[in-house]
Amino acid sequence: MKTILVTGSNGLLGQKITERILSNNLFHLVATSRGANRFLSQQGYIYESMDILDPLNVQAVVEKYKPDAIIHTAAMTNVDTCEDNKEMAYALNVGAVKTLLSICEAQQIQFIHLSTDFIFDGAAGPYDELANPNPLSYYGETKVEAEELVKKALCPWVIIRTILVYGVLADMSRSNIVLWAKAALEKGEAINVVNDQWRMPTLAEDLATGCLLAVEKGAQGIYNVCGKDMMSIVELVKRVAAYWSLDTSLIREVNGDSLNQNARRPAKTGFILDKAINELGYEPHSFEEGINLLVQQINNIQKHKMRVS
Ligand SMILES: NC(=O)c1ccc[n+]([C@@H]2O[C@H](COP(=O)([O-])OP(=O)(O)OC[C@H]3O[C@@H](n4cnc5c(N)ncnc54)[C@H](OP(=O)(O)O)[C@@H]3O)[C@@H](O)[C@H]2O)c1
Repeated sequence: MKTILVTGSNGLLGQKITERILSNNLFHLVATSRGANRFLSQQGYIYESMDILDPLNVQAVVEKYKPDAIIHTAAMTNVDTCEDNKEMAYALNVGAVKTLLSICEAQQIQFIHLSTDFIFDGAAGPYDELANPNPLSYYGETKVEAEELVKKALCPWVIIRTILVYGVLADMSRSNIVLWAKAALEKGEAINVVNDQWRMPTLAEDLATGCLLAVEKGAQGIYNVCGKDMMSIVELVKRVAAYWSLDTSLIREVNGDSLNQNARRPAKTGFILDKAINELGYEPHSFEEGINLLVQQINNIQKHKMRVS
């Protein structure tokens, strides 16, 4: 059985990969993230606290467990924070990739790197894997630079590009569009939502499956892995409102420029998924199927919290 080491295992994708590996039993798992483990179950895998900004720490952990593959999910993922704190964004999103690649090259470990639709300017979505990047934000710039390093690596590598990931966890450090919209509308808060940006939102479970398929198949190269439905952000939020029968009059349509966000966002991204579907056997859920799964998970988490309280 192959051993997979995951970086950023406390994050949304990291925890979903952990969940998938524990339920499928296809791989040994070494989960790593900074600080204490935040995944609910501590059984059936190894957890090591590992800071990707500390090369000696990374080297020691990788040498200890000798994984066959590293799935690198840790990053500075908040687009506006990257704009504000460029030095830290560069260290996390580019510097750490250099560290990991040098170790993967020395030990011939397969490196699975997570990238983003924000490498594109959004003028010509949906994009295939060969489209030329033109990032509008510093986050996007760091992700392009990291991709360039990965493409030159002398070890087996995969770049998985994804879009607007949503999902729920018992213990999550940051929200996502679906949970944010649901929570605000449930509280009766009016929300401003952009109507001039289009995305293909990705169920976190689908992305986790895509990453594991890349290891299972010994894939090499760039793969688009996202949801299968294209929608504007406001349409997404309206679908969330409709699903939970929430008040749609609280949704105020605005254009992206009016929000005065630090980082510019691409207008229309989206990915052509043929390569992942044909080569990896990737099967994305529809947005409604994703929301259905989320409901079951929210119920399970509430039941679990009631049991332990
Ligand atoms: N989420 C999206 O919509 C989206 C879209 C496109 C691409 N992506 C890419 O997909 C990947 C996974 O995203 P995600 O949504 O799972 O992100 P996330 O929930 O923000 O998780 C990232 C994890 O990395 C950890 N981390 C940060 N700095 C670290 C360090 N120095 N050492 C070790 N761990 C560190 C964070 O720890 P803390 O929890 O302690 O902060 C967090 O748990 C990222 O590469 C992201 O750029 C995400």
